Amino acid sequence: MEKKDIDWSSLGFGYVKTDKRYVSWFKNGAWDDGALVEDDTITMSECAGVLQYAQTIFEGLKAYTTEDGHIVCFRPDLNAERLEQSAARLEMPVFPKDRFIDAVVKTVEANEAYVPPYGSGATLYIRPYMFGYNPVIGVKPADEYQFRVFTTPVGPYFKGGAKPITIKVSDFDRAAPHGTGHIKAGLNYAMSLHAIVTAHKEGFDENMYLDPGTRTKVEETGGANFLFITKDNKVVTPKSDSILPSITRRSLMYVAEKYLGLTVEHREVYFDELKDFAECGLCGTAAVISPVGKIVNHGEEICLPSGMDDMGPITKKLYDTLTGIQMGRMEAPEGWIKVIK
Ligand code: PLP
Ligand code: COI
Repeated sequence: MEKKDIDWSSLGFGYVKTDKRYVSWFKNGAWDDGALVEDDTITMSECAGVLQYAQTIFEGLKAYTTEDGHIVCFRPDLNAERLEQSAARLEMPVFPKDRFIDAVVKTVEANEAYVPPYGSGATLYIRPYMFGYNPVIGVKPADEYQFRVFTTPVGPYFKGGAKPITIKVSDFDRAAPHGTGHIKAGLNYAMSLHAIVTAHKEGFDENMYLDPGTRTKVEETGGANFLFITKDNKVVTPKSDSILPSITRRSLMYVAEKYLGLTVEHREVYFDELKDFAECGLCGTAAVISPVGKIVNHGEEICLPSGMDDMGPITKKLYDTLTGIQMGRMEAPEGWIKVIK
């Protein structure tokens, strides 16, 4: 398979159109067989449920070229399960887990020429999504849906890759108590756009959102969960009903304990505790693990002892172990790696 002529190492986190995408239609109460198509455009009614009432959910995972030349993806079963939870919350039909995994595999296979080579620093980002398709004007769920998967080669989510970033404590909330923060719905990201544009204008890389009920606890960023390392090397990660249950975070909690022998605490994390942590990172599919060097709350700076030059030592160990598993340099726990080719 000849790879596309792409300068893999200079890719950022952007959209590059690839050759094929997967489409399945839900009509009359059932999903059709689904197929790969070339057309990257979608034609729909001006009154489609997704356009009027934002009935859309998505997932994100990656395909990796391993050290020995296979193409694999990481825990796609968990993405399928999370899409199911998102669908239930937005009154959308479930796309079955085995079909989700099959659609991901087919789409990656069809775009093999875009899977970045091992060692290039890039990966193939996979975006499964589902949306309400037919006209809806009274506020109610659509009757017809499309489930789709496209892929795009990507580099680091934050420019500078492993360089520590600076984050702002947002004055806006991302989620509401008993709202939709725990699912992957497009509406959560629409909510965050003004906050991220504001943070960027002020020179910050990302936002830290606090719990919407009391604004005393740490939640997450617009696209990743937080990890903190205590001065005695415990891994602490915020627990809340209004954050997305990150697959990367769940995997890192396992890796920290079972591979690195660290103590892991999944619990409420108060903003007031942040000054006592030794390291901080963001974790997610797109973010992988991005180190945080500084957190700023209305001019008050919390500077992590790990500094602004490099990842902290425990964060680095977690990063090396997770990416080692994903790239086939280290043995993966049973069922974590789906070999595509
Ligand atoms: N939190 C939010 C809001 C996200 O959008 C993402 C990205 O998917 C994550 C966390 C990380 O989740 P995962 O590790 O499953 O990609
Ligand atoms: C992902 O990590 O897959 C996400 O969906 C985050 C997104 C903000 C790019």
